[in-house]
Amino acid sequence: MTGTPAGAEGTEAAAFVDRLGINDEFFWLRGHRPEHPVEVNDYGIVNVYGYKEVLEVVGDPKTYSSDVAELIAGDVEIDPEFSDGTLLQSDPPDHTKLRKIISKAFTRGMVAALEPRMVEITHELLDAVDGQDSIEMVNDLAYPMPIIVISELLGVPQSDRDLFKTWVDRMAHSAVALTSGDRDLDEDVDAQAAMRVVPEMFQYLREHAAERRTKPREDLLTKLVEAEVDGERLSDNAVVNFANELLVVGHATTSALLGNTLLCLDAHPEHLAAVRGNPDLTPGLIEESLRYLSPIATAYKACVAEGELAGVPVHPGQLVAISLSAANRDERMFARPHVFDPYRDPNPHIGFGRGIHFCLGAPLARMEGRIATDILLDRFPKMRTDPDNPPAFLPLPHVISTSELPLLVR
Ligand code: HEM
Repeated sequence: MTGTPAGAEGTEAAAFVDRLGINDEFFWLRGHRPEHPVEVNDYGIVNVYGYKEVLEVVGDPKTYSSDVAELIAGDVEIDPEFSDGTLLQSDPPDHTKLRKIISKAFTRGMVAALEPRMVEITHELLDAVDGQDSIEMVNDLAYPMPIIVISELLGVPQSDRDLFKTWVDRMAHSAVALTSGDRDLDEDVDAQAAMRVVPEMFQYLREHAAERRTKPREDLLTKLVEAEVDGERLSDNAVVNFANELLVVGHATTSALLGNTLLCLDAHPEHLAAVRGNPDLTPGLIEESLRYLSPIATAYKACVAEGELAGVPVHPGQLVAISLSAANRDERMFARPHVFDPYRDPNPHIGFGRGIHFCLGAPLARMEGRIATDILLDRFPKMRTDPDNPPAFLPLPHVISTSELPLLVR
């Protein structure tokens, strides 16, 4: 454990996290303050814990590049065919151009129009477990819901839903094996697979994208192939890679948000009662959940020019781990940072990042979080965690997410 304890509110925060069994390395969640806002560990990785310092990193892409593939993947080679069109690991000017084109297709209006369908999908998934004494939140709702939403958004027919889920399962499995450092998790795990789209899915999406060029429909794939800025369009490969990126970054994170929000409510019955009686409180609840248990605890950047953060020199070639989660508990920014307070206003958390890479899916994630929470509270008035079946968390160093969340509902 690093850092110094932060008093009584920290003790309460620690009790909550200990009860859940969340990864010890997230020491700030246990109410401990980092000794310094920036620390270099024994491997030369620059850990950035302070809010102000994280903003310095994400505000300076010339010094802190998002192209971290080489630093993170080490000996794993990444075929550029699979990175063309992806936003997260690109830098300006490519990123600027790409984001402009993609933003023309993936609009707030398109997301807002999904609301009625999202309500139906949530009910449909919960109907399947209706009548049971308990549900397993991750498997029954949090994991499948965002996959279905993104595939419908793209325009994947309902009949291919299961196929899509199988591919996403494979990617998620490989990603967990690779990023948890457990290459033995499954003998079949191909480390390469975690870094790229499943070949069958690549092929599937490519065919669909090509078809949309001649037979346009009312879906995101069509909008992506049609989007144009200064006469430039996305290639089929770029469309497919971006569609894949949406699935990779948009499903596990949203799933995490749902589980984390329910755990926060479960630990705070007074807030649970308030939100249940007043859905207008749900948006504030979701924001506080993103701050308190940030699904992407850490994002990574690669230092490419001499820099300095809080007096610590940072050199090219160093991996910079920006802890969004620790920054979201920075007492220089947030009053009583270890108190879960859905009424916090303003709540300038950086759970969705900040700057040029600010999460493109934030409106979608917020809507999914709000709808799923409201429907769950409405359908299951007695919903609570099961003391005999505690939740399990993904064994990843950069993600705060339940992998299993049994809930009693009767
Ligand atoms: C970027 C968090 C849901 C699409 C990001 C970043 C964060 C983040 C922290 C920036 C990473 C960086 O700076 O390196 C989250 C969280 C989510 C969520 C916590 C759910 C609670 C989604 C969803 C989608 C999505 C649902 C789309 C379906 C993206 C994309 C980027 C991104 C495309 C890259 C943007 C760019 O590089 O310009 N997200 N995300 N995210 N997110 Fe999300």
